Amino acid sequence: MQVAVLNGVNLNAIGDRDPALYGGVGYSELETRIYAWAKELGCSVRCFQTNSEGEYVDLCHEARGWADGVIVNPGAWTHYSYAVRDALELFSVPVVEVHLSDIEKREAWRRVSVIADVVAQRVLGEGPEGYRQALVFLAQEGKPSE
Ligand code: DQA
Repeated sequence: MQVAVLNGVNLNAIGDRDPALYGGVGYSELETRIYAWAKELGCSVRCFQTNSEGEYVDLCHEARGWADGVIVNPGAWTHYSYAVRDALELFSVPVVEVHLSDIEKREAWRRVSVIADVVAQRVLGEGPEGYRQALVFLAQEGKPSE
């Protein structure tokens, strides 16, 4: 299984953001953990991060050509970007929405996710561990049914 991990705006700075919300783990450490979890689960993963919305949409389009499963954390775009939502809707493989913080227990505007109804699974508020849970979900989805 080939998994695309698409991290969006401000995720590169998570190590400098509120540790109570984002876990105090720097972005490169987050990627290191994702690659290690993927290896354990027998998945091949490619992580990307961008602060440009257009580039994020391009990454989604490119991943349609190779990924069997997708993990997205679009950061603040989650709450208002119909461009990202439309890009995610194009996937025919499962997409998992991950947020380090529990956006459903934060400000009213963060409780809105314009992508929630186009994803197969959501993992909220589990910190970096949420990406492992998303990988487990995709690895499970990718298994041939008995
Ligand atoms: C986030 C939550 C968003 O509301 C916020 O804008 C982020 C990170 C998370 O992972 O908890 O940048 O997506």
